[in-house]
Amino acid sequence: MSELNKIAKQMVAEKKGILAADESTPTIGKRLAKINIENTEDNRKAYRELLFTAPNIGEYISGVILYDETIRQRASDGHTFVTVLEKQGVLPGIKVDEGTEAVADSPDEVVTKGLEGLLERLPEYANMGAKFCKWRALIKIGAGIPTDKCIQINAERLAKYAKLCQQNNLAPIVEPEVLMDGDHTIEKCFEVTKKVLLTVFVELKKVGVAFDGMILKPNMIISGSECAKQASAKEVAEMTVKCLRETVPAEVPGIAFLSGGQSEEFACETLNEINKLSAGCPWQLSFSYGRALQASALKAWGGKSENVKVGQEAFLKQAKLVSLARDGKL
Ligand code: 13P
Repeated sequence: MSELNKIAKQMVAEKKGILAADESTPTIGKRLAKINIENTEDNRKAYRELLFTAPNIGEYISGVILYDETIRQRASDGHTFVTVLEKQGVLPGIKVDEGTEAVADSPDEVVTKGLEGLLERLPEYANMGAKFCKWRALIKIGAGIPTDKCIQINAERLAKYAKLCQQNNLAPIVEPEVLMDGDHTIEKCFEVTKKVLLTVFVELKKVGVAFDGMILKPNMIISGSECAKQASAKEVAEMTVKCLRETVPAEVPGIAFLSGGQSEEFACETLNEINKLSAGCPWQLSFSYGRALQASALKAWGGKSENVKVGQEAFLKQAKLVSLARDGKL
């Protein structure tokens, strides 16, 4: 078994999945604003410390995706966050994309950037202890979008990123996210996601990415958040598994879904239903949730040091539910 295959399998081990705690500084600022907390480095660090030091998170969480600022920070006991996670039996990972830029001639779309300098940054992160990376491409559904051009450029960049990661012994999380924003139907989400995934796997293959040493992080097939008819968790699961069966090579060890704006409850229901349909699927069907693992923890903490324990309890409670759902046992 290659080292990359070993890491990828570890990331989607039974009962476990990934915590996405790699919100960029502006994005974590939006989350902190919801609890009226200022977006300072100290507050960001205190919140991440709450998550990473929650007792025995390694029971449910296989890996944590960090942001560049966070991978360089230390917990209050003086240990780096990387060491804190390693002690919990959790793999440290790092987001390496650098946000988005405009697509020429298509003002409503964006492509992800960050390839410049990546060759130098990857070994640095590996030296700090990172075992895997993440790059997120963002596809919007709307009038006349996504365009083929946007899908193609995003897929090519995801492939280049993934290849560079593997050359540095870092397992890539390949994340092409079709956003749920909009009033489109679940059928439209299926159609766009299928096209995106097929394009991504063509590009990954072209540059020689080893499928057994990566994780796919897709959206579920779901109704647009403004769609009048919202599909049930069962319908989401059926269409999601169908789409993946038509697009994802069997060598990929695991698929770790993003939550994408689903509530904590719905993200558990949908993942549970998906795993109930997993018989015969060649890959593990796991999670890499951000908001659906953190929302109640953030609220319970509320930015107050005396609430760290209740914040951690809320986090562990949700992590346990997601873990049960990940095995279809909710
Ligand atoms: P959400 O689960 O909140 O969508 O975040 C996952 C993630 O990492 C998006 O890139």
